Amino acid sequence: MIRSVVRGNGAALPRRIMKNADFEGMVETSDEWIVQRTGIRQRHVAADDETTASLGEDAARAALDSAGMTPADIDLIILATSTPNNTFPATAVEIQNRLGMHHGFAFDMQAVCSGFVYAVATADLYIRGGLAKRVLVIGSETFSRILDWSDRSTCVLFGDGAGALVLEAEDGAGAITDRGVLAASLRSDGVHKDKLFVDGGPSTTGTVGHLRMEGREVFKHAVGMITDVIEATFSEAGITAEDLDWFVPHQANKRIIDASAKKLGIAEEKVVVTVDLHGNTSAASVPLALSVAVADGRIKKGDLVLLEAMGGGFTWGAVLLRW
Ligand code: UT7
Repeated sequence: MIRSVVRGNGAALPRRIMKNADFEGMVETSDEWIVQRTGIRQRHVAADDETTASLGEDAARAALDSAGMTPADIDLIILATSTPNNTFPATAVEIQNRLGMHHGFAFDMQAVCSGFVYAVATADLYIRGGLAKRVLVIGSETFSRILDWSDRSTCVLFGDGAGALVLEAEDGAGAITDRGVLAASLRSDGVHKDKLFVDGGPSTTGTVGHLRMEGREVFKHAVGMITDVIEATFSEAGITAEDLDWFVPHQANKRIIDASAKKLGIAEEKVVVTVDLHGNTSAASVPLALSVAVADGRIKKGDLVLLEAMGGGFTWGAVLLRW
């Protein structure tokens, strides 16, 4: 059985760090409120010359380096983003060109914060279906560009950044001991579309628009949705929470992460938390968290890793893989 195995990973963050205290003169908020309600302490914010394409390119180059590969080795680029450089063409194609890659194909995937989880599951299907052997999966976002900087209920929550994985086809035994993507569960339900959305777009206002969120409503649904897809993934793979080495959730709110881990019976020391460092970077949050836990030696070859995300749409999903 063909498996999609992680060969390398990488990340890129804008140069500028914005601390919670930096908001105190801009909107009525405090470091204490932000830390208590979300766990966020700082986030990176892109300068004019830092875009979804440039950050995505940097993360992709780092992932290729760690895989010992060059763009010539890649057949497909999937970029998860909700903040593309342009309405079209796909920013994935711009990254392809920046990498000097003029073969294969590239496209964007839009599932907001769940984008990276959707993209890994999609890359796995392209690999197992035989359409690609090596795939660059990137999550890159510049949410700072779509924030309403006068709205304290959203502007303190998000940050910019990018992360990437290189996946490669490898023969596996079809067993849980195989390396690579082992199981996935994806969901969406557009009935929730008005709880987290951008109030502009090419076909409606002709503008880019700003992010709007009913935070409490999103919070209310998050834990149940997250745990549902994770339980589906566990049951597909025939494992329990105890079998996991690492839980790498979407980094939106420390309270959501803690409540999900508790409900699933995942031990605290197995949970990778980076929301304090990056804020919510939407589709970049899971690969950024992976990059931190790989760099500090926590995630190692052979570890069983669970990825999860939930966001606008709503969309939600989980992927189980052996690193
Ligand atoms: O990535 C996609 C998924 N997104 C999420 O998962 C986000 C989910 N939601 C959340 O994380 C939380 O709901 C928030 C962090 C957004 C808000 O936390 P909360 O505990 O749900 O607070 P709340 O919205 O119920 O607001 C409590 C109070 C309100 O004041 P009143 O009405 O009680 O007087 C808000 O106006 O906190 C106020 N508030 C703030 N105060 C200081 C809202 N934002 C701020 C702020 N600073 N930045």
